[in-house]
Amino acid sequence: MKLLVTGGTGYIGSHTCVELLQAGHAVVIADNLSNSSSAVLERIARIAGKAPAFHKLDLRDAQGLQALLQRNPVAAVMHFAGVKAVAESVADPLKYYDNNVNGSLTLFAAMREFGVKRVVFSSSATVYGAQAVSPIGERAATAPANPYGRTKLMIEEMLRDLCTADPEFRAVALRYFNPVGAHVSGLIGEAPQGTPNNLMPYICQVAAGKLPELRVFGKDYPTKDGTAIRDYLHVTDLARGHVQALDYLERVPGFSAVNLGTGRGTSVLEMLQTFERVNQVRVPWKSADRRPGDTVITYADPALAGTALNWRTQRTLEDMCRDAWRWQKSGLAD
Ligand SMILES: NC(=O)c1ccc[n+]([C@@H]2O[C@H](COP(=O)([O-])OP(=O)(O)OC[C@H]3O[C@@H](n4cnc5c(N)ncnc54)[C@H](O)[C@@H]3O)[C@@H](O)[C@H]2O)c1
Repeated sequence: MKLLVTGGTGYIGSHTCVELLQAGHAVVIADNLSNSSSAVLERIARIAGKAPAFHKLDLRDAQGLQALLQRNPVAAVMHFAGVKAVAESVADPLKYYDNNVNGSLTLFAAMREFGVKRVVFSSSATVYGAQAVSPIGERAATAPANPYGRTKLMIEEMLRDLCTADPEFRAVALRYFNPVGAHVSGLIGEAPQGTPNNLMPYICQVAAGKLPELRVFGKDYPTKDGTAIRDYLHVTDLARGHVQALDYLERVPGFSAVNLGTGRGTSVLEMLQTFERVNQVRVPWKSADRRPGDTVITYADPALAGTALNWRTQRTLEDMCRDAWRWQKSGLAD
């Protein structure tokens, strides 16, 4: 299948391009490089043995998108492009509504014009409400607590409406829990700009001596070691889920939302200690106050992904820590 991958030079997009190319698909990437580098293209090609095509393009550029789809008839779209920092979305909501919602609207309009009727969308567990009880199934109420999460839910709703309006249109929203790690080759991974927002890249930078210590927010939560619990999954497992979602779209009409997570909760300290043990490095840390708005325990019920997508995670917490550190040490993460 020939596919358009928006945001394909980014963290999750690049890993998914590798899996798609290895599964025999042809890949056309559209990315504005606002949070990634074109240097990743050559590395994707080195891992997969095949190169993706690349177009530097902002999704909000309707004419550019139309020209791209005219030249490249694609059977489906994998839609990763977007901005993703929760705190930034609170400070600058219009950036999020413009980039994520407008970008998606422009993309879906171009798809309609060129008769592209399959889309796999990068959604997020942030669409669930703070009251959701873990394990969180797809039927849990949605009530995102910040503008970023609201953009994800709005895009899901847009896709649901498009499926209702056109019975041939099919969409799956993959609700990611906490993707971490890097490709086992050490050639691609997450390259955050500035101070990382997420735990694993932060741990990596502390271990590498780039940051002095990790602050662990909340030490007296009602969990086994007092720290917050999340569902971390390896980015390569997540990428494989997208290949499975493509097959699923061939079988199942309409709109679906599917969780991608391990179903296992890991505490901050458990992650930290696993990282130190498997990589034989020290990660200095200190406790800090709880952050307002943080949920205590969040992990997925991944049963639907198992039955519908025939997908389950294969990589362990140890693999995630080992691969993240290999990537950090490669020098390519900076
Ligand atoms: N990383 C996570 O923890 C996580 C969790 C849940 C959902 N997601 C979603 O998954 C998707 C990919 O996330 P990621 O971690 O790979 O992020 P990323 O920033 O590494 O990748 C996003 C890519 O999209 C590009 N982009 C952004 N706005 C664009 C635009 N208007 N036009 C064209 N390209 C644009 C960026 O340059 C970047 O390459 C995002 O939609 C994100 O919201 C990520």
